[in-house]
Amino acid sequence: LASIEVDISKVAPGGCLSYKWRGKPLFIKNRTDADIELESKTPVASLRHPQSPEDRCVKPEWLVVIGICTHLGCVPIPNSGDWGGGFYCPCHGSHYDNLGRARKGPAPLNLEVPPYKFVSDTLIIVG
Ligand code: FES
Repeated sequence: LASIEVDISKVAPGGCLSYKWRGKPLFIKNRTDADIELESKTPVASLRHPQSPEDRCVKPEWLVVIGICTHLGCVPIPNSGDWGGGFYCPCHGSHYDNLGRARKGPAPLNLEVPPYKFVSDTLIIVG
């Protein structure tokens, strides 16, 4: 299927669920106020792949990313690593923040944000 509908009400605050989209893992993370606050303080220019929270999220409390490490394609572990609420790829030690932005290790780019839109407060269409 080219597009999938996801009922995001199933993702608890702070949680991150994995789905499948076009044969790839898709992570949907429900960002907490603390997650949002933490990354609102990161200077965008300090990042290796500079993207603001607004570049990454349609709504600040929801992060939608492809769960494929931008180094060599392993699947990172959500809510893991050195950045609060972020992602960690154990293959070669890449750390991503809670916006899926590459922060440490060999990953050159942020986790990819696929095209998606909100149909309602609890339903999104990806693709
Ligand atoms: Fe993720 Fe190498 S594939 S760090």
